[in-house]
Amino acid sequence: MKTLFKNIKQLLQVRDANVDFVGGKEMKVLPKIEAAYLLVEDDRIAAFGSMDSCPTDSVDKVVDASEKIILPSWCDSHTHLVYAGNREEEFKDRINGLSYEEIAKKGGGILNSAKTLQETSVEDLYNQSKTRLEEVMRLGTGAIEIKSGYGLTPEAELKMLHVIERLRQEYPLQIRATFLAAHAIPTEYKNNKTEFLENMLSKVLPVIEAENLASYVDVFCEEGYFSTEDTTRVLKQAKTYGLTPKIHVNQFNAIGGVGVGVAFNARSVDHLEILTDADLDALKGSRTMPVALPGCSFFLGIPYTPARKIIDAGLPLTLASDYNPGSAPSGNMNFVVSLASIKMEMTPEEAINAATINGAYAMNLEQEVGSITVGKKANFMVTKKLSSPTVITYAFGSNNIEQIYINGNLLDD
Ligand code: NIG
Ligand code: FE
Repeated sequence: MKTLFKNIKQLLQVRDANVDFVGGKEMKVLPKIEAAYLLVEDDRIAAFGSMDSCPTDSVDKVVDASEKIILPSWCDSHTHLVYAGNREEEFKDRINGLSYEEIAKKGGGILNSAKTLQETSVEDLYNQSKTRLEEVMRLGTGAIEIKSGYGLTPEAELKMLHVIERLRQEYPLQIRATFLAAHAIPTEYKNNKTEFLENMLSKVLPVIEAENLASYVDVFCEEGYFSTEDTTRVLKQAKTYGLTPKIHVNQFNAIGGVGVGVAFNARSVDHLEILTDADLDALKGSRTMPVALPGCSFFLGIPYTPARKIIDAGLPLTLASDYNPGSAPSGNMNFVVSLASIKMEMTPEEAINAATINGAYAMNLEQEVGSITVGKKANFMVTKKLSSPTVITYAFGSNNIEQIYINGNLLDD
């Protein structure tokens, strides 16, 4: 099956196969072709270029994209999309003056979500999660990472990982699973964190290996949650099972988690709302991707990750949604890129690079998605009639997307 998209006003993010991410000044450059064509064969990008060189051989379908922009699907490298219920009551508590930390200290927060998840059947959890996955696919997400971490018992963590695996089997987009082994300390282990971790790791890691349930391991490295020593313990054990770290660090406090992540060759270090010069130095020269989650800063009213400081230091940056019930109850990547421009001083080009090619790298999917490159998956969005790509981040809250293609297939409404 061959489909030709022609008369494309702008074809964005056109790259050679050897570009795996972009950093520093390069992030301001979003390579594009004006008046372009794009040829899709089955599930892959077969060719693209200027309309002057548009192929004339017969194809099965022609789509006229006059006045429209085509860009790769969003690559959302950090989500907790598998969860049960929501936290609307805590949302009201926050409106009435309680802080996120205060709610967590009262036994709310992650512990509240874990209790609900433990009481939810695997079937119900799957159904709730697939609704969210379908929602974000319609919003342009074409590759996604999903974490466990709301189980807090080995059984419930495995329930989450099995749900992620079922989503992976049943949906066409690329899904990467992360075992979030240390997200919060259950009340019964309050004074025995080590036992909690040992029990979790010894019971879950062998099953992950046997059933191939995850590629990554994660820890919430934060004051009041897990220390750098705890983080080291988890990453060390998970490494022996072939899991790569992608960790939560520096959300509220900088306690050295960035350095630990880099030392373990983490694929990414995520959050970074608080960032010291030592953290920045640790990242320089590494292959670890810094990831910002502006939806979380927006929702909790905490600082935004200092994007300018990171990019101006020559480093790359990824944007992801953090879709979860407690700190970012939205997986809308269109809003995430708008927030990055509006609140983090990222140009539209930087934001789009951060949410496509760099997001793909943060999931180790840069050979498959994240750019318009011959041989990559035909995962892309056709916008409505737009004056320029700037509108994508400028017109926050608007739906600028007309069509979504995943593996070369049009996603129906
Ligand atoms: O990435 N920071 C840790 N985990 C999630 C939020 C967890 C929750 O409140 O449910 C995050 O923000
Ligand atoms: Fe998160």
